[in-house]
Amino acid sequence: MASARAFGKLILIGEHAVVYGCPAIAAGIDKGARAWAKRSEHISRLSLGVSQVTADDESETARAFVALLERLYEATHERTALEVDVTLDLPPGVGLGASAAIAVAIARAACDAVRVQPESQLILEAANAWESVFHGNPSGIDVAAAMAQQPIWFVKGSAPTPLPCAAPLCLAVALAGPPAATHRMVSKVRELHDQHPPEFRQAIDRIGDLAARARQALACSELVELGRCFNENQRELQALGVSTPDLEGACDVARAAGALGAKLTGAGGGGAVIALCDSSAERVLEAWSSRGIQAFAAQVGANPSPQTPEAS
Ligand code: MEV
Repeated sequence: MASARAFGKLILIGEHAVVYGCPAIAAGIDKGARAWAKRSEHISRLSLGVSQVTADDESETARAFVALLERLYEATHERTALEVDVTLDLPPGVGLGASAAIAVAIARAACDAVRVQPESQLILEAANAWESVFHGNPSGIDVAAAMAQQPIWFVKGSAPTPLPCAAPLCLAVALAGPPAATHRMVSKVRELHDQHPPEFRQAIDRIGDLAARARQALACSELVELGRCFNENQRELQALGVSTPDLEGACDVARAAGALGAKLTGAGGGGAVIALCDSSAERVLEAWSSRGIQAFAAQVGANPSPQTPEAS
């Protein structure tokens, strides 16, 4: 049976602004999704943990699965039914890119099962077809990060650029709020865009500037400056209305425990917070844990592990 993996992601700077054409920085993390695929005599079926859908269901997941398969059929000129199983070692709905990781893993495993070269462009398009069903009009950053292990510079509509990173970043990741739907938070920000166009554009441009500063800081390992960028980005996200008291609280706890900067990551409204740590995430993880916040450490920009995401 064909098998493939894909990463979850952290957006370091620039969520939401990226939807409006500003640059953002994201990176894959070592947690993600694995998919197994094989040809089938029956209708295509997808098992995701305990839930199962077939291609003729009307659920969102079934429609996303069909959209992904349709893009592959266009490339293969063959309508092969597939049986696909997916496991996930990331919580879904918390801004860590679980949905994009699932889509990329399925697309890679499906290509392998039907003996088609898993070209990056094809995987990207198939995974974005899946994402569009859930998120309407995603920027594509989640899928791009799910396919990259190194940090990337991402601008909507352009190929992502791998970012030089002078030394690996040590991050702590908290599951600080309940899951929230990305499309709901994107719509909330869209309302601000429609109501206050000039102020909105200024805020979005400030976030774009932060991405440029963070890129420079990453290249030179200027962690204090990068931490400042995290904090300033968080203030902008709060002003956009996508932070919550839980997310603000988790950022404050991390800073008090020595983090150089902290911000929500992903769409917000709940979900995850990232904290940039100097050399070890331990103090921040302990501080979160003592307040009952689940968390884990993540390294970004380390040398890619020998087991590539595509490897079976
Ligand atoms: C979600 O991970 C990131 C957002 O910027 C939406 C998108 O880019 O499609 C909130």
